[in-house]
Amino acid sequence: MKTKFIYAVLLFSAFSIGTKNIYASGANQKTIKNLQDAFVGESTASAKYAAYAKKAKDEGLLRVGLLFEAASKAESIHAGNHKAVLQQLGGTIPEVNPKFEVKSTKENLEDALNGESYEISTMYPGFIKQAQDENASSALISLNYAFQTEKKHKEMYADAIEAVKNGTEKKLSGIYYVCSTCGNTYNSEAPERCGISMTSKERFVRFSL
Ligand SMILES: [Fe+2]
Ligand SMILES: [Fe+2]
Repeated sequence: MKTKFIYAVLLFSAFSIGTKNIYASGANQKTIKNLQDAFVGESTASAKYAAYAKKAKDEGLLRVGLLFEAASKAESIHAGNHKAVLQQLGGTIPEVNPKFEVKSTKENLEDALNGESYEISTMYPGFIKQAQDENASSALISLNYAFQTEKKHKEMYADAIEAVKNGTEKKLSGIYYVCSTCGNTYNSEAPERCGISMTSKERFVRFSL
């Protein structure tokens, strides 16, 4: 009888611990799913922008090519940050098979603008809200780094579209700095410290013609 009781207690404890573990790993389920989506999105954007950079250079639009190169680097930093948080939260890292079509640079710029607009208006605000609800502090940092950067990318793509339309592409910047911590992108001389992550400017990646 006593043995049975001990057995029952042990079984109950094991069940409780098991339940707790399931609960603990379930605490950030939405955020894990969101980070997986964001990781795939950022990895795809990085590959796409690299292809768009090559196309722009082929068309002689060197400064647009440079913007795409810098943005590609920024997106790869976002993907790396999301991946690191996923690993921290015990989420699996999805496989990425980027699918996109390279069209004319004019169309590629429109596509890039639409992608950034979606991330700013819908995707990241939603993901940030859920990370707040789940108290996922590391995810909040990673998601916010991307969200803040995409706002700048959107502006840069909008300016590039105007320049290509008006035949003033050569007036676009010939220099970019990308923060290696958060992907923040500057199209002029970088400040001493990143405006988003406070990273020192020695750790910025420089792109120039
Ligand atoms: Fe990004
Ligand atoms: Fe972006």
